[in-house]
Amino acid sequence: MTSQHAVIVGGSSGIGLETARTLLALGHAVTIMGRDAQRLKAAKDSLGGKVAAIAVDARDTDNVRGAFERIGSFDHLVLALGSGKGVGPFASVSVADVRQGFEEKVFPHFACAQAALPFLRDDGSIIFVSAVSAHAAMPGTAGIGASNAAVAALVPILAAELRPRRVNGVSPGVIDTPWWDFLPQDAKTPVFDDFAGKTPVGRVGQPADVAQAIAFLICDSFMSGHIIVCDGGLRLVG
Ligand SMILES: NC(=O)c1ccc[n+]([C@@H]2O[C@H](COP(=O)([O-])OP(=O)(O)OC[C@H]3O[C@@H](n4cnc5c(N)ncnc54)[C@H](OP(=O)(O)O)[C@@H]3O)[C@@H](O)[C@H]2O)c1
Repeated sequence: MTSQHAVIVGGSSGIGLETARTLLALGHAVTIMGRDAQRLKAAKDSLGGKVAAIAVDARDTDNVRGAFERIGSFDHLVLALGSGKGVGPFASVSVADVRQGFEEKVFPHFACAQAALPFLRDDGSIIFVSAVSAHAAMPGTAGIGASNAAVAALVPILAAELRPRRVNGVSPGVIDTPWWDFLPQDAKTPVFDDFAGKTPVGRVGQPADVAQAIAFLICDSFMSGHIIVCDGGLRLVG
């Protein structure tokens, strides 16, 4: 295939990092972005150094625009940054936490996609990483589900508005990434065991499960306006 250039915001860890690895293996050029320069360097080294890495905070629109200007034209934007804020029972979840969840996910996704437009080739695409909480009815996820639903809502609208560019999304279920590091290991194990038991495929996901879905949406030039829920079936039972 012709080599294309993918930029992954949130490419220094978890789903974004594995997406970088998958796209590199398919022959794409890849640039990863994240806030922490050390984490970014470790990610770049783990990818064999074959990627470009730019430290950027996606909440800072000028910073993001500057990073895209440094890159110039590219083909695919993957938005793999997110937030863990806004989890808890509806009756008691803090509205400040929910607002922070929107600040850390919805607005950076929106602003990064907007800032990328002048640089995104017409036959390119945008992939938003939302979450299963946007589509399921899991008690305790009203806050985080609302922010992920806002991201998911962008997909069909932008697929229609930004044509011929393609716009798609993936909504992961529970994926074993550093996103869960707010839990100590002895607390994480029973939580993952519980989710694995509930999930129809009998396990939690790995970053590669989601990276495959993202790579499919990037590579199939007839896919636009889709959200792949990559959750092992959790949305059906969660
Ligand atoms: N893991 C799951 O179970 C799960 C489930 C559903 C949805 N998701 C979604 O999947 C996406 C990826 O999550 P993950 O599990 O791969 O998490 P992760 O391992 O924590 O990776 C998050 C990445 O985003 C970067 N990042 C965070 N805030 C950023 C910002 N303001 N600007 C630039 N980069 C930023 C992080 O690097 P720095 O911290 O250095 O900036 C890191 O590279 C998120 O949107 C998350 O909500 C995850």
